[in-house]
Amino acid sequence: MPPFRLAHLSDPHLPPPPGALRAADFASKRLLSAIAWRRKGREHQPQVLKALSADIGAYAPDHIALTGDLTNFATKAEFAAARAWLQTLGPASGVTVSPGNHDALVGRNAPDAFAPWREWLEDPGQPAFPAVRERGPVALVNLCSATPTAPGLASGRLGREQLGRLEAILERLGREGLFRVIMIHHPPTPGIVSKRKALEDAPALSALLKTHGAELVLHGHAHEAAVSTMPGPAGAIPVLGVPSASAVGHGRHPGARWHGIEIDPTQRRIRVIARGLSAQTGAFEPLGSYVLDGPQG
Ligand SMILES: [Fe+2]
Ligand SMILES: [Fe+2]
Repeated sequence: MPPFRLAHLSDPHLPPPPGALRAADFASKRLLSAIAWRRKGREHQPQVLKALSADIGAYAPDHIALTGDLTNFATKAEFAAARAWLQTLGPASGVTVSPGNHDALVGRNAPDAFAPWREWLEDPGQPAFPAVRERGPVALVNLCSATPTAPGLASGRLGREQLGRLEAILERLGREGLFRVIMIHHPPTPGIVSKRKALEDAPALSALLKTHGAELVLHGHAHEAAVSTMPGPAGAIPVLGVPSASAVGHGRHPGARWHGIEIDPTQRRIRVIARGLSAQTGAFEPLGSYVLDGPQG
């Protein structure tokens, strides 16, 4: 059986369309985010994202996993612009989006439950979150850690209800022998981001994975490449993060990168191919590859 090819990208932070911020937003957390964007906007460039999308297209993945922060202020105009961009990335059945904290900056005035992206979050008629998308030997388990937070915070939370449903889902998919790929915006392992950016109920998720297992976890949010593990019932579960898909790269933040993840479900093994932005050519080039043995359940 040929490997299942999954492309992972994250944190595109699409440029806000003109008029994305209205006067009413300036009393909210969006104001702080707008100030931050004046600095970060230079870091995230549409032409970088365009080159990255083309590079993923040339790889012709079986599926694309996008772990959040498509927008900056979670306005309706940005949600509509992000929807138009998603349509260029691939058919909704072939692209799964896990929302990020920037997609849920404020509760009030935010589009209801990410409605404009519905087709990219879950399969028709399926409940979310977690949303389960079964694709051949792989089951994508899409979590939502995006939640409105107080100013100065960028933390995430899954909540008891979502965790409760996740338990039964992992158990069922494990019994069916599917290769379970968990998607979540916030890193679930400690030490990758600071406390103010962290997943609040990471210990509860960790306890659940330790008992019920998963074969791979993908996250974003850190804007850095990160490889870590979480304990599972049959060994360590690999946890992978990618930098922002639109970053030119400066200071401590690397330039844009995406991962081709080739899953061999019979061997419970994955090969990760990292491709990153070349500062010289503006094109994407290979950065290296490595093989990870997953839990041998
Ligand atoms: Fe981000
Ligand atoms: Fe984030």
